Amino acid sequence: MKRIIITNGGGLDHLKVDECEIPKPKKSQILVKWLATSLNFHDYLVATGGIPVMNGRVPMSDGAGEIIEVGAEVLDWKVGDKVMSMFFPGWQDGPAAFEKIAGISGESIDGYLTEYSCLSANAVTKIPSGYSYTEAATLPCAALTAWNGLMYTGRLKPGDKVLIEGTGGMSIFGMQIALASGAKVYATSSSPSKAERLKSLGVEAVVNYKEDERWGKAIYKVSKGGVDHVLDVGGGSTMNQSIEACKIGGHITSIGILSNGRKGSITFPKLFFKFINLRGIAVGSKKMQNEMIQAIESTGFSPIIDKTFAFDQIAEAFKYQESGKHFGKIVLKYE
Ligand SMILES: NC(=O)c1ccc[n+]([C@@H]2O[C@H](COP(=O)([O-])OP(=O)(O)OC[C@H]3O[C@@H](n4cnc5c(N)ncnc54)[C@H](OP(=O)(O)O)[C@@H]3O)[C@@H](O)[C@H]2O)c1
Repeated sequence: MKRIIITNGGGLDHLKVDECEIPKPKKSQILVKWLATSLNFHDYLVATGGIPVMNGRVPMSDGAGEIIEVGAEVLDWKVGDKVMSMFFPGWQDGPAAFEKIAGISGESIDGYLTEYSCLSANAVTKIPSGYSYTEAATLPCAALTAWNGLMYTGRLKPGDKVLIEGTGGMSIFGMQIALASGAKVYATSSSPSKAERLKSLGVEAVVNYKEDERWGKAIYKVSKGGVDHVLDVGGGSTMNQSIEACKIGGHITSIGILSNGRKGSITFPKLFFKFINLRGIAVGSKKMQNEMIQAIESTGFSPIIDKTFAFDQIAEAFKYQESGKHFGKIVLKYE
Protein backbone atom coordinates (compact mmCIF):
# COMPACT_ATOMS: atom_id res chain seq x y z
CA MET A 1 0.00 0.00 0.00
CA LYS A 2 0.95 3.63 -0.49
CA ARG A 3 0.84 6.45 2.01
CA ILE A 4 2.33 9.93 2.11
CA ILE A 5 4.52 10.97 4.99
CA ILE A 6 6.03 14.21 6.23
CA THR A 7 9.85 14.21 6.27
CA ASN A 8 12.59 16.66 7.24
CA GLY A 9 10.39 18.89 9.41
CA GLY A 10 7.80 19.51 6.71
CA GLY A 11 7.52 21.68 3.59
CA LEU A 12 5.69 20.84 0.37
CA ASP A 13 8.95 19.39 -1.11
CA HIS A 14 9.24 17.01 1.85
CA LEU A 15 5.96 15.14 1.39
CA LYS A 16 7.16 11.67 0.32
CA VAL A 17 5.36 8.60 -0.99
CA ASP A 18 6.07 5.63 1.30
CA GLU A 19 5.26 1.98 0.55
CA CYS A 20 4.44 -0.50 3.31
CA GLU A 21 2.38 -3.61 4.09
CA ILE A 22 -1.39 -3.33 4.67
CA PRO A 23 -1.77 -3.60 8.48
CA LYS A 24 -3.93 -6.23 10.27
CA PRO A 25 -6.59 -4.95 12.68
CA LYS A 26 -6.36 -5.84 16.38
CA LYS A 27 -9.45 -7.22 18.17
CA SER A 28 -11.02 -3.79 18.80
CA GLN A 29 -9.93 -2.23 15.50
CA ILE A 30 -11.22 -1.83 11.96
CA LEU A 31 -9.18 -1.79 8.73
CA VAL A 32 -10.33 1.02 6.44
CA LYS A 33 -9.55 1.51 2.76
CA TRP A 34 -9.45 5.30 2.55
CA LEU A 35 -10.84 6.76 -0.67
CA ALA A 36 -10.74 10.54 -0.18
CA THR A 37 -9.47 13.34 2.02
CA SER A 38 -9.98 17.12 2.01
CA LEU A 39 -7.69 20.02 2.73
CA ASN A 40 -8.01 22.22 5.80
CA PHE A 41 -5.83 25.15 6.82
CA HIS A 42 -4.69 22.98 9.75
CA ASP A 43 -3.40 20.33 7.32
CA TYR A 44 -1.54 23.05 5.40
CA LEU A 45 0.16 24.22 8.62
CA VAL A 46 1.16 20.63 9.47
CA ALA A 47 2.43 19.86 5.96
CA THR A 48 4.47 23.05 5.70
CA GLY A 49 6.06 22.76 9.16
CA GLY A 50 3.97 25.53 10.80
CA ILE A 51 2.79 22.89 13.30
CA PRO A 52 5.77 20.62 14.03
CA VAL A 53 5.11 16.87 13.85
CA MET A 54 7.30 13.77 14.12
CA ASN A 55 9.22 12.58 11.08
CA GLY A 56 7.15 10.03 9.13
CA ARG A 57 3.75 11.35 10.25
CA VAL A 58 0.89 10.68 7.79
CA PRO A 59 -0.89 14.04 7.29
CA MET A 60 -4.57 15.00 6.78
CA SER A 61 -7.27 15.04 9.44
CA ASP A 62 -10.16 14.18 7.11
CA GLY A 63 -10.78 10.79 5.57
CA ALA A 64 -13.67 8.82 4.10
CA GLY A 65 -13.54 5.20 3.08
CA GLU A 66 -14.84 1.66 3.34
CA ILE A 67 -14.33 -0.92 6.09
CA ILE A 68 -12.38 -3.89 4.69
CA GLU A 69 -11.94 -5.98 7.85
CA VAL A 70 -13.16 -5.86 11.47
CA GLY A 71 -11.43 -7.16 14.61
CA ALA A 72 -13.01 -10.02 16.57
CA GLU A 73 -14.46 -7.73 19.29
CA VAL A 74 -15.97 -5.11 16.96
CA LEU A 75 -19.77 -5.15 17.11
CA ASP A 76 -20.75 -1.74 15.69
CA TRP A 77 -19.31 -2.10 12.20
CA LYS A 78 -19.23 -4.66 9.40
CA VAL A 79 -17.20 -5.13 6.24
CA GLY A 80 -18.45 -2.77 3.50
CA ASP A 81 -19.67 0.00 5.86
CA LYS A 82 -18.91 3.53 4.64
CA VAL A 83 -17.18 5.60 7.32
CA MET A 84 -15.49 8.94 7.90
CA SER A 85 -12.77 10.00 10.30
CA MET A 86 -12.86 12.17 13.41
CA PHE A 87 -10.53 15.12 14.06
CA PHE A 88 -10.30 14.12 17.75
CA PRO A 89 -10.83 10.34 17.86
CA GLY A 90 -10.63 10.45 21.67
CA TRP A 91 -13.48 12.96 22.10
CA GLN A 92 -16.58 10.81 22.02
CA ASP A 93 -19.05 12.87 24.04
CA GLY A 94 -19.47 15.54 26.72
CA PRO A 95 -17.42 18.69 27.16
CA ALA A 96 -13.86 18.93 25.86
CA ALA A 97 -11.05 17.77 28.17
CA PHE A 98 -7.30 17.73 27.58
CA GLU A 99 -7.15 13.94 27.51
CA LYS A 100 -10.01 13.78 24.97
CA ILE A 101 -8.34 16.17 22.53
CA ALA A 102 -4.75 14.98 22.92
CA GLY A 103 -4.90 12.78 19.81
CA ILE A 104 -5.31 14.97 16.71
CA SER A 105 -5.67 13.16 13.38
CA GLY A 106 -2.88 14.09 10.99
CA GLU A 107 -0.89 15.85 13.72
CA SER A 108 -0.20 13.98 16.98
CA ILE A 109 -1.49 10.71 15.46
CA ASP A 110 -1.42 9.52 11.85
CA GLY A 111 -3.97 10.98 9.45
CA TYR A 112 -5.67 9.67 6.33
CA LEU A 113 -3.38 10.34 3.36
CA THR A 114 -2.93 6.60 3.16
CA GLU A 115 -4.61 3.87 1.16
CA TYR A 116 -5.31 1.78 4.28
CA SER A 117 -5.05 2.10 8.04
CA CYS A 118 -6.21 0.32 11.18
CA LEU A 119 -7.89 2.37 13.86
CA SER A 120 -10.12 1.95 16.88
CA ALA A 121 -13.70 1.11 15.97
CA ASN A 122 -14.68 4.23 18.01
CA ALA A 123 -12.61 6.54 15.82
CA VAL A 124 -15.07 6.81 12.90
CA THR A 125 -18.71 7.66 12.22
CA LYS A 126 -20.93 6.66 9.33
CA ILE A 127 -21.05 8.99 6.33
CA PRO A 128 -24.34 10.77 5.50
CA SER A 129 -26.58 8.58 3.35
CA GLY A 130 -26.39 9.54 -0.31
CA TYR A 131 -22.97 11.13 0.10
CA SER A 132 -20.00 10.08 -2.05
CA TYR A 133 -16.65 9.46 -0.36
CA THR A 134 -15.35 12.75 -1.77
CA GLU A 135 -18.29 14.63 -0.26
CA ALA A 136 -17.99 12.86 3.09
CA ALA A 137 -14.27 13.65 3.28
CA THR A 138 -15.08 17.39 3.46
CA LEU A 139 -17.00 17.08 6.74
CA PRO A 140 -14.97 15.93 9.79
CA CYS A 141 -12.98 19.13 10.37
CA ALA A 142 -14.54 22.08 8.50
CA ALA A 143 -18.24 21.22 8.66
CA LEU A 144 -18.14 19.98 12.25
CA THR A 145 -16.42 23.18 13.39
CA ALA A 146 -19.09 25.34 11.76
CA TRP A 147 -21.78 23.04 13.21
CA ASN A 148 -20.32 23.26 16.72
CA GLY A 149 -19.88 27.07 16.50
CA LEU A 150 -23.36 27.83 15.22
CA MET A 151 -25.63 25.07 16.46
CA TYR A 152 -24.00 23.62 19.55
CA THR A 153 -22.31 26.53 21.30
CA GLY A 154 -24.04 29.33 19.34
CA ARG A 155 -27.59 27.94 19.71
CA LEU A 156 -28.57 29.50 16.39
CA LYS A 157 -32.28 30.20 15.86
CA PRO A 158 -34.22 30.75 12.62
CA GLY A 159 -34.12 34.46 11.74
CA ASP A 160 -30.73 35.02 13.45
CA LYS A 161 -28.09 36.93 11.49
CA VAL A 162 -24.75 35.22 10.90
CA LEU A 163 -21.45 36.63 9.63
CA ILE A 164 -19.03 34.31 7.84
CA GLU A 165 -15.54 35.57 7.04
CA GLY A 166 -13.99 34.67 3.68
CA THR A 167 -14.91 31.76 1.45
CA GLY A 168 -12.72 28.92 2.76
CA GLY A 169 -13.97 25.47 3.65
CA MET A 170 -15.17 26.15 7.21
CA SER A 171 -16.84 29.47 6.35
CA ILE A 172 -18.78 28.05 3.39
CA PHE A 173 -20.10 25.24 5.61
CA GLY A 174 -21.05 27.97 8.10
CA MET A 175 -23.04 29.67 5.36
CA GLN A 176 -24.78 26.43 4.35
CA ILE A 177 -25.66 25.42 7.92
CA ALA A 178 -26.95 28.91 8.72
CA LEU A 179 -29.09 29.12 5.56
CA ALA A 180 -30.48 25.61 6.10
CA SER A 181 -31.47 26.71 9.64
CA GLY A 182 -33.41 29.74 8.42
CA ALA A 183 -30.78 32.32 9.39
CA LYS A 184 -29.75 35.37 7.36
CA VAL A 185 -26.13 35.28 6.27
CA TYR A 186 -23.65 38.13 5.75
CA ALA A 187 -20.10 37.63 4.52
CA THR A 188 -16.73 39.16 3.86
CA SER A 189 -14.47 38.25 0.95
CA SER A 190 -11.42 39.72 -0.77
CA SER A 191 -12.77 38.71 -4.17
CA PRO A 192 -15.55 40.50 -6.11
CA SER A 193 -16.35 37.35 -8.14
CA LYS A 194 -16.61 35.24 -4.97
CA ALA A 195 -18.87 37.96 -3.51
CA GLU A 196 -21.22 37.55 -6.48
CA ARG A 197 -21.24 33.78 -5.99
CA LEU A 198 -22.03 34.20 -2.27
CA LYS A 199 -24.99 36.39 -3.14
CA SER A 200 -26.25 33.89 -5.72
CA LEU A 201 -26.21 31.26 -2.96
CA GLY A 202 -28.42 33.37 -0.69
CA VAL A 203 -26.03 35.65 1.23
CA GLU A 204 -27.69 39.01 2.00
CA ALA A 205 -24.65 41.27 1.60
CA VAL A 206 -20.87 40.94 1.19
CA VAL A 207 -18.17 43.42 2.25
CA ASN A 208 -14.66 43.32 0.77
CA TYR A 209 -12.32 43.14 3.80
CA LYS A 210 -9.29 44.16 1.74
CA GLU A 211 -10.93 47.31 0.32
CA ASP A 212 -12.64 48.36 3.56
CA GLU A 213 -10.51 47.84 6.65
CA ARG A 214 -13.45 48.86 8.85
CA TRP A 215 -15.58 46.07 7.38
CA GLY A 216 -17.08 45.30 10.78
CA LYS A 217 -18.86 48.68 10.79
CA ALA A 218 -20.04 48.04 7.22
CA ILE A 219 -21.52 44.66 8.24
CA TYR A 220 -23.17 46.33 11.29
CA LYS A 221 -24.78 48.81 8.91
CA VAL A 222 -25.98 46.42 6.18
CA SER A 223 -27.32 43.98 8.79
CA LYS A 224 -29.29 46.89 10.32
CA GLY A 225 -27.93 46.83 13.84
CA GLY A 226 -25.40 44.00 13.85
CA VAL A 227 -25.30 40.23 13.57
CA ASP A 228 -26.15 37.62 16.22
CA HIS A 229 -23.24 35.29 15.39
CA VAL A 230 -19.76 35.60 13.90
CA LEU A 231 -17.56 32.69 12.86
CA ASP A 232 -14.21 34.44 13.34
CA VAL A 233 -11.41 32.94 11.23
CA GLY A 234 -8.73 35.61 11.57
CA GLY A 235 -8.16 35.86 15.34
CA GLY A 236 -5.83 38.81 15.90
CA SER A 237 -6.34 39.98 12.32
CA THR A 238 -10.15 40.09 12.47
CA MET A 239 -11.43 40.06 16.07
CA ASN A 240 -11.93 43.82 16.54
CA GLN A 241 -13.94 44.03 13.33
CA SER A 242 -15.89 40.92 14.32
CA ILE A 243 -16.83 42.72 17.56
CA GLU A 244 -17.84 45.81 15.51
CA ALA A 245 -20.08 43.63 13.33
CA CYS A 246 -22.01 42.19 16.30
CA LYS A 247 -25.24 43.43 17.79
CA ILE A 248 -25.46 43.88 21.58
CA GLY A 249 -25.29 40.43 23.15
CA GLY A 250 -23.88 38.85 19.97
CA HIS A 251 -21.97 35.57 19.97
CA ILE A 252 -18.48 35.31 18.43
CA THR A 253 -16.93 31.90 17.88
CA SER A 254 -13.15 32.20 17.78
CA ILE A 255 -12.03 29.57 15.29
CA GLY A 256 -8.98 30.56 13.31
CA ILE A 257 -5.83 32.55 12.84
CA LEU A 258 -5.79 33.30 9.10
CA SER A 259 -3.78 36.31 7.85
CA ASN A 260 -1.15 35.86 10.56
CA GLY A 261 -3.73 36.34 13.32
CA ARG A 262 -2.10 34.12 15.96
CA LYS A 263 -1.82 37.14 18.28
CA GLY A 264 -3.56 40.50 18.48
CA SER A 265 -5.12 43.05 20.77
CA ILE A 266 -8.80 43.46 21.55
CA THR A 267 -10.58 46.76 22.18
CA PHE A 268 -12.01 45.60 25.50
CA PRO A 269 -14.57 48.38 26.10
CA LYS A 270 -16.26 47.37 22.83
CA LEU A 271 -16.31 43.76 23.98
CA PHE A 272 -17.96 44.43 27.34
CA PHE A 273 -20.20 47.37 26.38
CA LYS A 274 -21.64 45.18 23.64
CA PHE A 275 -22.07 42.27 26.09
CA ILE A 276 -20.36 39.98 23.58
CA ASN A 277 -20.25 36.27 24.25
CA LEU A 278 -16.77 35.26 22.98
CA ARG A 279 -16.21 31.52 22.80
CA GLY A 280 -13.22 29.55 21.47
CA ILE A 281 -13.84 26.12 20.01
CA ALA A 282 -11.88 23.30 18.40
CA VAL A 283 -13.81 21.09 15.95
CA GLY A 284 -16.14 18.84 18.00
CA SER A 285 -16.98 15.46 19.52
CA LYS A 286 -18.24 12.25 17.95
CA LYS A 287 -21.70 12.99 19.37
CA MET A 288 -21.73 16.36 17.59
CA GLN A 289 -20.50 14.70 14.38
CA ASN A 290 -23.37 12.20 14.51
CA GLU A 291 -25.90 14.99 15.17
CA MET A 292 -24.51 16.95 12.21
CA ILE A 293 -24.84 13.87 9.98
CA GLN A 294 -28.51 13.54 10.99
CA ALA A 295 -29.09 17.20 10.15
CA ILE A 296 -27.35 16.81 6.76
CA GLU A 297 -29.55 13.81 5.99
CA SER A 298 -32.74 15.70 6.82
CA THR A 299 -31.86 18.99 5.08
CA GLY A 300 -30.05 17.32 2.18
CA PHE A 301 -27.37 19.92 1.49
CA SER A 302 -24.19 18.93 -0.34
CA PRO A 303 -20.74 20.34 0.27
CA ILE A 304 -19.35 22.86 -2.20
CA ILE A 305 -16.25 21.27 -3.70
CA ASP A 306 -14.06 23.67 -5.64
CA LYS A 307 -11.47 21.31 -7.09
CA THR A 308 -10.44 17.66 -6.89
CA PHE A 309 -6.87 16.33 -7.08
CA ALA A 310 -5.40 12.79 -7.13
CA PHE A 311 -3.73 11.07 -4.15
CA ASP A 312 -0.16 11.93 -5.09
CA GLN A 313 -0.99 15.53 -6.13
CA ILE A 314 -1.02 16.63 -2.50
CA ALA A 315 1.69 19.31 -2.92
CA GLU A 316 -0.12 20.74 -5.95
CA ALA A 317 -3.40 20.76 -3.98
CA PHE A 318 -1.76 22.65 -1.08
CA LYS A 319 -0.28 25.17 -3.54
CA TYR A 320 -3.78 25.75 -4.89
CA GLN A 321 -5.08 26.24 -1.32
CA GLU A 322 -2.18 28.65 -0.67
CA SER A 323 -3.25 30.72 -3.71
CA GLY A 324 -6.61 31.41 -1.98
CA LYS A 325 -8.48 30.89 -5.27
CA HIS A 326 -10.76 28.23 -3.84
CA PHE A 327 -14.39 28.66 -2.81
CA GLY A 328 -15.35 25.94 -0.32
CA LYS A 329 -13.44 22.68 -0.21
CA ILE A 330 -10.46 21.15 -2.02
CA VAL A 331 -10.50 17.35 -2.14
CA LEU A 332 -8.12 14.49 -2.97
CA LYS A 333 -9.83 11.47 -4.55
CA TYR A 334 -7.74 8.31 -4.26
CA GLU A 335 -9.12 6.25 -7.17
N1 LIG B 1 -10.81 25.90 15.76
C1 LIG B 1 -11.04 24.88 14.92
O1 LIG B 1 -11.44 23.80 15.34
C2 LIG B 1 -10.87 25.07 13.46
C3 LIG B 1 -11.46 24.16 12.55
C4 LIG B 1 -11.41 24.45 11.18
C5 LIG B 1 -10.73 25.58 10.75
N2 LIG B 1 -10.10 26.36 11.67
C6 LIG B 1 -9.39 27.57 11.27
O2 LIG B 1 -10.28 28.38 10.52
C7 LIG B 1 -9.53 29.08 9.53
C8 LIG B 1 -10.11 28.75 8.16
O3 LIG B 1 -9.81 27.39 7.87
P1 LIG B 1 -10.19 26.76 6.45
O4 LIG B 1 -9.65 25.38 6.45
O5 LIG B 1 -11.62 27.02 6.16
O6 LIG B 1 -9.25 27.68 5.52
P2 LIG B 1 -9.18 27.88 3.96
O7 LIG B 1 -10.18 27.01 3.27
O8 LIG B 1 -7.77 27.76 3.54
O9 LIG B 1 -9.68 29.42 3.84
C9 LIG B 1 -9.01 30.35 3.05
C10 LIG B 1 -9.92 31.56 2.81
O10 LIG B 1 -10.04 32.34 3.98
C11 LIG B 1 -10.27 33.68 3.63
N3 LIG B 1 -9.42 34.59 4.40
C12 LIG B 1 -8.09 34.64 4.49
N4 LIG B 1 -7.71 35.66 5.29
C13 LIG B 1 -8.85 36.25 5.71
C14 LIG B 1 -9.14 37.37 6.53
N5 LIG B 1 -8.19 38.11 7.09
N6 LIG B 1 -10.44 37.69 6.72
C15 LIG B 1 -11.43 36.96 6.17
N7 LIG B 1 -11.21 35.91 5.38
C16 LIG B 1 -9.94 35.56 5.16
C17 LIG B 1 -10.03 33.83 2.14
O11 LIG B 1 -11.33 34.00 1.51
P3 LIG B 1 -11.56 35.03 0.30
O12 LIG B 1 -10.79 34.46 -0.85
O13 LIG B 1 -13.04 35.01 0.09
O14 LIG B 1 -11.05 36.36 0.75
C18 LIG B 1 -9.37 32.50 1.77
O15 LIG B 1 -9.68 32.09 0.48
C19 LIG B 1 -8.07 28.66 9.72
O16 LIG B 1 -7.40 29.57 10.58
C20 LIG B 1 -8.18 27.31 10.40
O17 LIG B 1 -7.05 26.97 11.14
C21 LIG B 1 -10.16 26.12 13.00
